[in-house]
Amino acid sequence: MTNRRRFLTALLAPPVFAGRGEARPESSPAPMPSRVPPWPEENDPAFWDRIRDQFYITPGEAFFNTGTIGATPRPVLERVIEDMRTLQATVTRWDYTANTPNWISGYSPELPLREKLGKLVNAEGRDLALTQNATFGMNFLAQGFDLKAGDEVITTDQEHPGGVCGWRERVKRDGISWKQVKMPIPANDPDRLVELFAEAMTSRTRVLAFPHIISPSAVVMPAKRLTQLAHQHGCLSLVDGAQALGQVKVDLQDIGCDAYFSSPHKWLLAPAGNGMFYIRRELQDKVWTTLCSQEWDNHNDGMYRFMQYGTGNRSLQAGLDAALDFHFRIGPERVRQRIRSLADRLRKGLERIPRSKISSPVHPDLAGAVVVHGIEGVPAAKLEQELWQRRRIRVRSMGDQLGVRQSCQIYNSEAEVDATLDVVRDLAASA
Ligand SMILES: Cc1ncc(COP(=O)(O)O)c(C=O)c1O
Repeated sequence: MTNRRRFLTALLAPPVFAGRGEARPESSPAPMPSRVPPWPEENDPAFWDRIRDQFYITPGEAFFNTGTIGATPRPVLERVIEDMRTLQATVTRWDYTANTPNWISGYSPELPLREKLGKLVNAEGRDLALTQNATFGMNFLAQGFDLKAGDEVITTDQEHPGGVCGWRERVKRDGISWKQVKMPIPANDPDRLVELFAEAMTSRTRVLAFPHIISPSAVVMPAKRLTQLAHQHGCLSLVDGAQALGQVKVDLQDIGCDAYFSSPHKWLLAPAGNGMFYIRRELQDKVWTTLCSQEWDNHNDGMYRFMQYGTGNRSLQAGLDAALDFHFRIGPERVRQRIRSLADRLRKGLERIPRSKISSPVHPDLAGAVVVHGIEGVPAAKLEQELWQRRRIRVRSMGDQLGVRQSCQIYNSEAEVDATLDVVRDLAASA
């Protein structure tokens, strides 16, 4: 079947509703015509091309910036739109009883969704809060602990502002101390990374706060070993997983960390406006919540205390639910293998190009689905621009020291990786 025919067939396909299992309210509007193509057979040789059809990304354009925001799958977006439209059509019928759906977030525990998310990260639903992004989690932690002047927090020197600025505020407000571990570029020695943190620790250290995957240099940090190090010294291990959820395996029990937060709108492909926040059960009562409404002091439902942010858009949570369905339908391990193999192909190709440099790890334990690369003598912004202008490939510049960040996702292909290599080869030869 030609692509065009396949696309047209897809447009005529029956509606896809990856629902939360709620009954649709009586006389809700007719569902909008589905724009979701049929799901491919497991063994379809063109499986990943068909998965690519599940996205609205313009044909002929390659999106490699999942590290900033993931593209939303069609069934996920359609679910959000349908949810919002149904609210508008049925808002008069909302009488707050159990028979009508609740249309806002911020006032209900949403336990089934927390439990579904928990299946992905090996945690119980009650130990997870649904927030709005990673920044929420970081701030809840930085503001929620009783730290005093002189207590020390250690981070890397490559934190995203949304992973660190709450600690910086505590420095200014309360006089806590903040130390940054200088990360090697590229980082290719896991033992050395742990040593660097060990060397930085002092008797005043209370917290190790580090990314599971570093945003600019894409290092998959040895989170379990760093957590063990923190615990050996009686410190907390707080992990910023904004880039990790959906990119690498996140097993919260195995990592053993005290807290973890993430932004499912990146690698899990949920709509923006969703966040995941975990605190180990034994520690939950020691953390103050700093965003309070009705249930701020409810210690009977684990992390629900951290979901008191007032009225939010529940349709976005429906989108998170649909994104989890989408991820589980492909299979988390299959996703991880696919995106890793694309990144490996890119790394191997770049290694063969003279003057090309890779700033992200190539060590298998530290490398993920993101490759940060540049060309000697070529500004990163120019490489970003040339990739777009020549081949419609969207990457993101991380500055001249690092290069461009290329995030390989399930909507990318071997052909797109090879097109990247063609552009790099050509620029490197003429630079
Ligand atoms: C490592 C890391 N932490 C935190 C954030 C902030 O995420 P958000 O803006 O979704 O809160 C990002 C965003 O890129 C990130 O990469």
